[in-house]
Amino acid sequence: MRKMRFAQQVNSGVPHLSGVSIYSEQDWTDELFAQILNASEEEITSARAEYTRYRITFEEKILSPREQFFDSIFDLGSGMSEFVYTAIKVKKPDKVVETGVAAGVSTNTMLNALHSNANGKLVSVDITNQVGELIDEALKNRWALEILPEVGREKSLANYLRKNADASIFLHDSDHSSSWQKKELALVVRELTSIELILFDDVDQELIDFIFLHFAESQVIVLNENRKFSGIIRILRH
Ligand SMILES: C[S@@+](CC[C@H](N)C(=O)[O-])C[C@H]1O[C@@H](n2cnc3c(N)ncnc32)[C@H](O)[C@@H]1O
Repeated sequence: MRKMRFAQQVNSGVPHLSGVSIYSEQDWTDELFAQILNASEEEITSARAEYTRYRITFEEKILSPREQFFDSIFDLGSGMSEFVYTAIKVKKPDKVVETGVAAGVSTNTMLNALHSNANGKLVSVDITNQVGELIDEALKNRWALEILPEVGREKSLANYLRKNADASIFLHDSDHSSSWQKKELALVVRELTSIELILFDDVDQELIDFIFLHFAESQVIVLNENRKFSGIIRILRH
């Protein structure tokens, strides 16, 4: 949500992030994913083929008219969607945490990957329970939705994260304002003590600078999703 100014600048072709490696769609090879995820290319090829099959079946639902508020403009980018599915297939996490459900593209995608692994839970955090119309009912046994109150939102998020400190993958797709993204990232690093992979939809220079200022030993890889950038972040020491 927000960041429209940023999206327009990307579309006008202005390169917008410095100090990080940016990969456009043609660069999203199995080799790149294998390097990022420290996996074999065979594992990646198989996981991505599975994602493609899943996505074909999901596409019809995504394109159908929606009943709730959240339109397709809010959906997770295609690059991050494929990456997070692949990451779950390869890393086989016991727990994943995400912020921002909306219609549920990211949620349904991650639940499908966990279901395919026959292992793991997803905890999603939002500010409203009027979300998730695209989520397959049959997969909700692996899912918990936590609603943040309006008052004391940051403190509540910290509490939820602390309760889920064993999560190893985190996906941010909630409030994309730089101020909230920075707060969320700092809380994730502080509270999710087992975290391996931090994924952020819609990153900008302010967040990148914040990461390198506060977590000097970090790796940041950026997927150029055309209308926005997605960040794959590893905090190496904290
Ligand atoms: C960009 S949409 C999420 C899209 C979703 N991940 C998908 O792929 O379909 C943003 C969502 O974040 C929620 N949200 C906004 N501010 C939030 C906050 N501070 N914490 C958690 N969720 C928030 C909104 O209610 C909305 O559901």
